[in-house]
Amino acid sequence: MITQYTRRTAKLLLVAGAAMALGACSNFPSRQPPIWVWPDMKKQDKYKAQMSAPFFADGRTSRRPVEGTVAQEWYKADEAYSTGVGADGNYVAKNPLPLDKATIEKGQVKFNIYCAPCHDRTGSGRGVVPAKVVWVPGNMHEERIVNLVDGELYHVISMGRRSMPGYRFQISEQDRWAIVAYVRALQRSWRGTMADVPAEMQSKVK
Ligand code: HEC
Repeated sequence: MITQYTRRTAKLLLVAGAAMALGACSNFPSRQPPIWVWPDMKKQDKYKAQMSAPFFADGRTSRRPVEGTVAQEWYKADEAYSTGVGADGNYVAKNPLPLDKATIEKGQVKFNIYCAPCHDRTGSGRGVVPAKVVWVPGNMHEERIVNLVDGELYHVISMGRRSMPGYRFQISEQDRWAIVAYVRALQRSWRGTMADVPAEMQSKVK
């Protein structure tokens, strides 16, 4: 038989149960460590960054790298290849990549992605960026730039020059050298003369 007394007890139990259930997902910060019924891997014997620990004399867990350490991705076995500057401090004279069709085509793709927005696809310096803002990219067909050695061009691409930003973080070393090869091809095409056209074709060129 359900009496008023049992109904009240049932209600009380329901409220207490709900409070306990909600209490378990409480969002209130507490200084008390939570009770871990199953600790799983929550607690591990390890040091976290910036913690203190008695193991080292200075009491820090964060250690400095051993002097002379070089991060793997920053280790450059061939300084001249990666910087465009040789051991003698001069720009590398010749592009180290094989100057074949694959290199030039790779250079063309990368040039059109990374350089053409400012320098336009011919390299004359009238890309879409300078059309919108006052920013004058160099004309790659100027005598002075045609006369730069390959390593200097590579260096300009990598480090930038005056108002041009460097692209060493966006473009891999190999692709930068490929761009140098393609810039040479552009410059060559710009300076072509009738003598460059094969004799049998000359009559067809107006
Ligand atoms: C965001 C626009 C921009 C992009 C992208 C850009 N350049 Fe430039 N570049 C410039 C500007 C501006 C100058 C002129 C810098 C100056 O003289 O102040 C310049 C100058 C140059 C010069 C002449 C340097 C000299 O000695 O005067 C070369 C060579 C060159 N850029 C090559 C490249 C190549 C190759 C790429 C693609 C990897 C590239 N640039 C991408 C804006 C750009």
